[in-house]
Parts: sequence; C-alpha cells; structure tokens
Amino acid sequence: MNSSPLPIVRDVAGLRAVVRDWRRAGARVGLTPTMGALHAGHLSLVRAAKERCGKVVASLFVNPRQFGPNEDFDRYPRDEAGDAALLAGAGCDLLYAPDRTAMYPAGFATSVTVADVSAPLEGEMRPHFFSGVATVVAKLLLQTMPDAAFFGEKDYQQLLVIQQMARDLDMPIAIIGCPTLREQDGLAMSSRNAYLNAEERRIAGRLNHILHDAIKAFRNGDPLVGVESEAARHLVAAGFSKVDYVAIRDAETLAAPAAGRACRILAAAWLGKTRLIDNMAV
Ligand code: PAJ
Repeated sequence: MNSSPLPIVRDVAGLRAVVRDWRRAGARVGLTPTMGALHAGHLSLVRAAKERCGKVVASLFVNPRQFGPNEDFDRYPRDEAGDAALLAGAGCDLLYAPDRTAMYPAGFATSVTVADVSAPLEGEMRPHFFSGVATVVAKLLLQTMPDAAFFGEKDYQQLLVIQQMARDLDMPIAIIGCPTLREQDGLAMSSRNAYLNAEERRIAGRLNHILHDAIKAFRNGDPLVGVESEAARHLVAAGFSKVDYVAIRDAETLAAPAAGRACRILAAAWLGKTRLIDNMAV
C-alpha cells in the first residue's frame, strides 16, 4: 500500500500513463522540476503551475550530473516523505521520483550543452554544472511533455539556459520564470540554507542587502567595476569567506550591460563550506 499523501511514480512509463489520462480528460499539465528538500520557494512554483495548468507534476531527482567531484552531492539534504506531504498541501497532483538508473541507465551517452549564456558566472565557477542541468531538464521535459514548466528566478542563469535550450530545440513547452521567495531578513530561500550554523545564517542575511546597496550605487551613476568590487569588499567585511563573483550584466544575455537594456545583478559567495547565490533586477 502506498501511504504517501500523493501518488508517486518512479519510471517514465508510469509518468506518461498518468499524463495521458489527464490529457484525455482535457487538462493542461504543468511541471516543476526540483531536487527536493523543499521549502516555500519550491511550493510557490507548484502553486503557479496549478493556477496556470490545472494538473501539476513535481519531479524530485538529485541529479548527479550537475554536481562537481568536490561538491555536495553526497550530503545534499534528502527527505522524500516530507517533500511529498508539502507537495500535496500545495496542490501538486503527482510526484515523479525516478532513481538514478531509471534516469541514467547503463550506456547513457548524451549530454545537452547550451553555449553563450552558460559560459560566464556560474559556468566559469562550475564548468559541468549547466550541461548537467540542461541534460536532466531536457529529459524531464521530454518525459513529461507538459504545456509549461516552472523555474525560479533564484537560479537566474539556470532559467536563461533552460529558456535558450527549449527555444533552440523547438520544445513546445512554455518555460515560466517565477519570483524568488525570501526569508524575513531577505535571504533567498534555498535547500542549502540548511547547512548554515547560527552565525553563518545571520551573515547570510546580509547578501541581499549588499546587492540592494550596489544597485542603488549603480543607478546613481557609480562606475560598474567600482560598484562590483565594493559589493565584494562589503561581503568579505560582513563575514563571507570567499566571493566567487558580484556582477551586473544584461538581463537577457548576461553580457556587459548596455545603455537602454534591462540589467541584473548576480552574486555567488561562500560562508564556510556553503555556497550561496542570489540575484535581482537592477
Ligand atoms: P532546486 O535547487 O531544487 O530548485 C528547484 C526549483 O526551485 C528551481 O527552478 C529553483 O530556481 C526554484 N527555487 C529555489 N529556490 C527558490 C526560491 N527561494 N524562490 C523561488 N524559486 C526557488 O534548481 C534545481 O533544483 C535543479 O537545478 C533542477 C532544475 C531541478 C535540475 O536538476
């Protein structure tokens, strides 16, 4: 007997059977891909999908291909039963939780690489990351074939990479970006916040304020390079152990900002062993 609060399928055939029945009944289908350890940010994607589509699949798969050899794959938080309960409460209709061999059977040999928008920032710091993400998201999209898939602006570069991939490969699926949910002090919600001790958690709350100050300085006409390096200096002064980047970029291409085009500020910084990212519209 399945005691889970919502139905769970673990293979593509099971997933497709449910989606086919929904479609026969005339429903639109939304997909929210996740790696689990869910928080209110993830659940906001499920609610957005429910509003737009009627039937919602959430996927839960900690994707080994997007972790580097020295990254946190082994200690990434996992709680499928807790996640299933949260998803059911948010209106999700089906949990798709494939295991590693269902996703990557022996002999799996394909990888999806998106050029240009994958290259800077996260792409420089984590060279395998975006091809790992693009490969698994391509699979999740083709396995589910939803009308729309929902991703957080929290991972802004990831959202741009997935939109580019879906466009380039003519996937008939709308890729929808949803706003970042934050804690009371403005810290962007993240499964990795669970790694932080009390002191690190306090310092983490400074990141979004330092980005806000940088946006103000940039809008006041301070030169770009000075604004970025000042923000990095403030992060270190606040207690961050290392800053991977603070950058103001074109909001669509992530190239250097140009007059008259929308910009985004993006940052990645370390607190001990925990790497945090955040971004905002400028
Ligand atoms: P994960 O980190 O679990 O995030 C799943 C989705 O939730 C992503 O689209 C992410 O941007 C969104 N999200 C995370 N924190 C959020 C917040 N505070 N507010 C709003 N949305 C938030 O991102 C991944 O998993 C993986 O790379 C994945 C796309 C599932 C591919 O493996």
